Formats: sequence, structure tokens, C-alpha cells
Amino acid sequence: MKIDTTVLLAAGQSTRMRSHKAKVLHQVCGRPLIYYPIRIALEISRQVIVVVGHQADEVKAEVSRIFPRENILFVQQREQLGTAHAVKEVFDNSSLELHGQVLLLYGDVPLFAPQFVEAMQDKIDSAGNLNSLLMVTISKENPYSYGRIVRDRAGLIKEIVEESELTKEQKKIKEVNPGIYLVKDSVLRELLPKISNQNSKGEYYLTDLIKLYRQAGGKVKGIEEKSEGSLMLGINTRAELAQVAALLRERINQVHLEAGVTMVDPASTYIDQQVKIGKDTVIYPNVHLRGNTTIGENCRLDTGVVIMDSQVADHVQVKPYVVIDSSKVGKEVKLGPFSHLRPASNLAERVHVGNFVETKKTSIGLGSKANHLSYLGDAFIGEGVNVGAGTITCNYDGVNKHPTTIDDGVFIGSGTQLVAPVHLKKNAYVAAGATVTHEVPSGALAISRCRQKNIEGYVEKRKQTLSREQE
Ligand code: UD1
Ligand code: CA
Repeated sequence: MKIDTTVLLAAGQSTRMRSHKAKVLHQVCGRPLIYYPIRIALEISRQVIVVVGHQADEVKAEVSRIFPRENILFVQQREQLGTAHAVKEVFDNSSLELHGQVLLLYGDVPLFAPQFVEAMQDKIDSAGNLNSLLMVTISKENPYSYGRIVRDRAGLIKEIVEESELTKEQKKIKEVNPGIYLVKDSVLRELLPKISNQNSKGEYYLTDLIKLYRQAGGKVKGIEEKSEGSLMLGINTRAELAQVAALLRERINQVHLEAGVTMVDPASTYIDQQVKIGKDTVIYPNVHLRGNTTIGENCRLDTGVVIMDSQVADHVQVKPYVVIDSSKVGKEVKLGPFSHLRPASNLAERVHVGNFVETKKTSIGLGSKANHLSYLGDAFIGEGVNVGAGTITCNYDGVNKHPTTIDDGVFIGSGTQLVAPVHLKKNAYVAAGATVTHEVPSGALAISRCRQKNIEGYVEKRKQTLSREQE
């Protein structure tokens, strides 16, 4: 059964990150931190409310961008007075419908698995009633900075004590609070106003809810999570951000390995959360696949390849140190080493793009080749074209960009400049070293260099002149 409402806290100032950017907008495996808990919240609850405050506009804009179709509500916490205050702002907002069970989550805890919440859902009865306050607890070898779980003699959860309020004895407690609570709306309405800020930080701690609930005669049930406890890390610092990113990376790689992707060294393979990869593709070390990227089946991505926001079809061979950005690569294409496909490059099937070739806003037709040292920008290249070594499209006149059109079957000799706008028609031939400034008709040869002249005996004569000068 779906939970009625999830409230996600993301208003904090993120002081410990030492950043100009809100913590929840820092990237982990290609997604902002806040993406991960929101995705889970959307899966398991009917209504999702995000509390924003610090950099509220930026956070709202980013959440709406990454979840364009989902209905996510925002509540503004004007002053960041603590986690309990943040939740209270939601209940003080009269325009919201808030009834039933409320799941409370922190926006800086990205990696918990939905099964923790499923265990909570099991405890809701068929009428939707919840007779206790449920929370997850985990054990941490180094519990520093987490709220510690204090249990009574009978082993029941009594309270959560924050790091700054701990006694010497309590500091030894290893059972901590990852920050996942399920509680009835009526409990929150009644108890939130009773939470005070009389503590060493002068903040309203949400964790005080536990103590108050117990005092009011309620029962707090802990769902102890041992296996994946290490993944429920809250991110407060850059070091923790890196640690969580490494864990998530490992998980992502594991999924691809299980789905039939070979990784020579998973530890040095960097794949963003939303990347898709086909079976039998082989990935060498130090490959980065970023953003909205899809790789087909049976591809080979050699070392140092970086691909972002691009679609690569099946059976593509990418040799070392190729960079592909926002482009499309067709079946059986061969790329690299050291090629650079800049945005809006579109390679049809069986194209070859080789060493030190840069493309931008360029389409290359079936089986065409540009194997060495070229710049192809704003070009429309047909099928079966041979682009000779060192061919440059001169697409920019200092003010505007101009297109180059190269029809099917054209052969371009080495060291050629194509001064755009220019059109090379079907099966035209361009002699090496040409500067092409106007249209080449179909089947014609364009040649624009001066005729070669040899000066016989030049070297010997020069030697003699030089030696005379030295005497
Ligand atoms: C909190 C818990 C702690 C728990 C830990 C787990 C409290 C008092 N403490 O501590 O028991 O072990 O998380 O990671 O709840 N926020 C707001 N408004 C505020 C303050 C914070 O929205 O006024 C948001 C933050 O943006 C953040 C979340 O609440 O996403 C948690 O706040 P943070 O300051 O990181 O709490 P911790 O000290 O980590
Ligand atoms: Ca935190």
C-alpha cells in the first residue's frame, strides 16, 4: 500500500560543504543528490512534499527540471531553524492536504533502498492505520555526527540524542539514526509544536519527536537494518559526497555486470545513473559514461573514452581517448584514437572517424571516412565520401557560421580547406591542397594550387653562396 505523504527536507544551509551551491544540488553519478530520495519517495507515496529554504529557487527549478511530469509540492522554510521546524512549516501551510501516514526523509541521504520503507509499509494495517512511530536504525562503526539511538532496559527505543548533546557514555553507542521515520499526521500536529530549541545548537530537532512520543505513551518501533547500513549515509561534507558517490558507482557497475557488460576494471569505470549499455559490450579502464547516454550491444570502449549525453548503436569500436558529446553514432562505426565528436555530430552506419578529427554539428553518411587530422563543422556529408587527411571546413567568418555540403561519393584530397558556404556535388574530386571557395559540380575535379616549379641544383648553389659569405 502506498504511503499517503512523504516530506523531504532540503532547506538546510549545508555549511559543512563549504560551497556556494546548495548541498542537495551537488552531483552524484550524474544526478543531483536530491534526485535519489525524491525518486524513491515518488515510488512509494501518493504525495511528495519537498521543504526548500536555502537557495529555494535553484532547488525548485532543478527538481522541476529532473522530474518534469511528476507533481511535487514545495513548501518554503523561510528561516532554517532546524529539522523539526522544517516539518512544522509543512503542517502550518494551510493549502496542503495532509492526512494519514507521513514518511519523513532527509534530502541529503541518497542511497537507502526502498525495502526499508517496504518493511514500514508492512506495519500499516489494512485500514491505513499506524499504531506506532516507525523508524529505521543502523549500526555504524564510526557513529560520529549521527543522532544516537538510546534504548531503555527492555531494549525499546527511548530517544535520539544528537552528537552535540551526547554524554561521554552515549558517545559509545553505535546504533544511529539514518533519518527515515513513518508517523501519523495527527502525531506530528500534536507533538511538533512541543519541540523546543533548548539545546546546545539552539535548533528545533526533529529527533526530539521520539522522546515526546514515548512520553505521550506511544510505542516507537525500530526497523534495524544491518546489511546495507553503510549505504544509508547522510552527506554533510565533500568527503562524504565522494564516499557515497563511490558506493553508488559500485552499485551501478554491479547492475551492468549482471546484465552482461564486461568491465576490465570496474573500480576505474565511471558510469552515471541514467546510462544504458547493451550486452557483450566491453569497457576498458578509465572510461566515463555520463548523463543521458546509451551504448549498444557488442561495442568496445577502449581506455580513456569519455561519452556524454550521446547515443551509440551496436558493434561500435571506440579506440582510446575519444570524446563524444551530445551526438549520435551509428552501427559498426569506428572511432579514434583521439577523435572528438562535439555536440550534434551524427554518424551513420560504418563511418570511420580517426586520429585528431574533430566534428561539430555535422552529419556523416553511410560508410564515409575522415581518418586523420580534420575539422568538420556545420557540414552535411553524404555516403561513401572520403575526407582526406588535414581537411578543414572553414565554417566561421568571424561573425557567422556557414554550412558545407558534401554529396555522396565525393573524394577530398589531403590538406584541403573548404571555405563555407560551399557545396561539393556528387562524385566530385578535390585535389590535395586545394582551397575550395565555390561550388564543385558533380563529377568535376577542383584544383586550386599553383603549378609546381623545380629549381635544379638549388641546394648545391646555396651551399656555395653560404661558404663564400663566411670566408
Ligand atoms: C540529522 C539528524 C540526525 C541523523 C542525521 C542522518 C536531526 C536533528 N538530526 O542530522 O539524528 O543521524 O540527520 O543523516 O534531525 N534541513 C532543513 N531545514 C533545517 C535544517 C535542516 O530542511 O532547518 C534539512 C537539510 O537540508 C538536510 C536535512 O534536513 O537535508 C538534515 O539536516 P542536517 O543539518 O544535515 O542534519 P544532520 O546534522 O545530518
Ligand atoms: Ca545530514
